[in-house]
Amino acid sequence: MKVITTPQEMQALAQTWRVDGLIVGLVPTMGWFHEGHLSLMRKAREITDKVIVSLFVNPMQFGPTEDLDNYPHDLERDRKLADAESVDVLYAPDASAMYPVEFKTSVHVHGLTSGLCGGDRPGHFDGVTTVVAKLFNQTLPHIAVFGEKDFQQLAVIRQMVRDLDFPIEIIGHPIVREESGLAMSSRNTYLKENEMEAALSLSKSIAHARMLVEKKETISPDQIKEEVRGIILQHSQCAIDYVEIVDQTSLQSCEQVTGESVLVLAVKINQRIRLIDNSTLIGN
Ligand code: PAJ
Repeated sequence: MKVITTPQEMQALAQTWRVDGLIVGLVPTMGWFHEGHLSLMRKAREITDKVIVSLFVNPMQFGPTEDLDNYPHDLERDRKLADAESVDVLYAPDASAMYPVEFKTSVHVHGLTSGLCGGDRPGHFDGVTTVVAKLFNQTLPHIAVFGEKDFQQLAVIRQMVRDLDFPIEIIGHPIVREESGLAMSSRNTYLKENEMEAALSLSKSIAHARMLVEKKETISPDQIKEEVRGIILQHSQCAIDYVEIVDQTSLQSCEQVTGESVLVLAVKINQRIRLIDNSTLIGN
């Protein structure tokens, strides 16, 4: 596996692959790989000829009081893990290459970014769409794989790709969980032993919501949200950022539960660790 650190070298290599008729896949990440990231790499490996994994802790998507400086980082650890997944290139540019001092552009997707995580983290999605647009231009992929864990991010990126005519197929990949049900996240590493139960209330409340929908013929989104909030708030360490049931494409609140409805949650544990999770309420 090759490690590339400059946009110029990355783009030149991707260009030669394309000229050779190879299908190029990209998995964008911020590193500190876990099974969730590795599952995206495996998916890309399965459906493309050349797999690029980008690793860039993107300052533009972190707010001033967020965890940019503490975000877990170990290039050597991640290099070994990506290599074991037969990734072709680990693309790890540094911040000055991505955002030189004269950098002046940002990509904003309207509407979809204003609520949910966008409401709690102003400017976050502009950082995400700007860096993902840059990564697309630097790695020239035919296919890019993203996790459904970051549900709103996936919807925003799909919208950007449609609106800006990127010739790239976006593949969404299911959430990988710990055996306990906890959705894997690089931020789980911040959780202390005595915060685990509180963290598990997200997946437990999701399982409860799915059970309610399965058992009761008619149940309103408001009733489900109330029960979900109740389960989470049993833990004094939890503060809810949002509990919503939204349509999976428009991200608008649902009046009733359908196969398109997704329960989305964001919860802060001890004011320090912001966890997100989501699930459809009917089917897989
Ligand atoms: P990061 O949080 O590192 O996540 C990289 C990719 O892994 C995202 O597509 C995310 O949805 C996926 N992922 C994370 N946890 C997962 C899990 N438990 N199961 C399945 N997939 C999971 O998301 C970002 O980085 C950044 O915002 C990025 C898109 C790289 C732009 O900077």
